[in-house]
Amino acid sequence: MIKRFFSSTAEVPDSVEVPRHVAIIMDGNGRWAKKRFLPRVAGHAQGVDRVRGIVEACIERGIEYLTLFAFSSENWRRPQEEVSRLMELFVMALEREVTRMHRNGVCLRVVGDLARFDQNLRDLIEQGEARTQENHRLTLTICANYGGRWDILNAVNNWRRDNPDSVDLSEEALSPYLSMHYAPEPDLFIRTGGEQRISNFLLWQLAYTELYFTETLWPDFDAEKLDLAIDSFRKRERRFGRTSEQLLER
Ligand code: IPE
Ligand code: IPE
Ligand code: MG
Repeated sequence: MIKRFFSSTAEVPDSVEVPRHVAIIMDGNGRWAKKRFLPRVAGHAQGVDRVRGIVEACIERGIEYLTLFAFSSENWRRPQEEVSRLMELFVMALEREVTRMHRNGVCLRVVGDLARFDQNLRDLIEQGEARTQENHRLTLTICANYGGRWDILNAVNNWRRDNPDSVDLSEEALSPYLSMHYAPEPDLFIRTGGEQRISNFLLWQLAYTELYFTETLWPDFDAEKLDLAIDSFRKRERRFGRTSEQLLER
């Protein structure tokens, strides 16, 4: 069943104290390692360890959806050794963490162009998703070999395949084809590591998301830092193109 969510370009969602959906670019692993005279991959290992704490902090705060950018379509361009190590870490994390996620009521989803991954990794993803699919406490999405442009083009191509005779495509018709159709648009976007860019993350879905950038490197990001981001979110007035006065009338 496809749930219908508010589209930020059509309607104004109810304002919330705690974001329903938080999307994070986990950046800064390499610099974290470099500061300690360690190889970059040591930063990635530490970064993977951080994920568990943030997932649990999100559950405690009542966040319903957490989306993490783990590997971009462009990250294949990194040195082969680093890419291989990232894949190994992904496999290890799935092997180790799915049981705990399941116990915590986490529903795991992995989105991106998964065809390029090894069969072993794809099998683990499929098993993890199947095992946790009935869980509703938190939906954790890992974006792997993901790119916002890929997502939009993939959705358009699939829509066209299903509707060969239609000419015009609407937002509403496209939405179910996007990789994150099962989640509302993110309320809060966080990027760690100090860069202030989107790096081809959820281009479509971030249309009206509140953006938060922090210098903290991902391996140093913890529940306290998450709370700072949520505090900043709470102070924002989300207008979705309207005026303040219009929002008060609602
Ligand atoms: C983010 O950390 C992790 C991935 C992109 C996989 P980086 O590896 O980009 O860390 P920096 O930006 O080089 O510090
Ligand atoms: C974005 O980080 C991708 C992930 C965190 C997975 P990058 O480190 O790849 O982004 P750029 O290259 O600095 O824009
Ligand atoms: Mg980076």
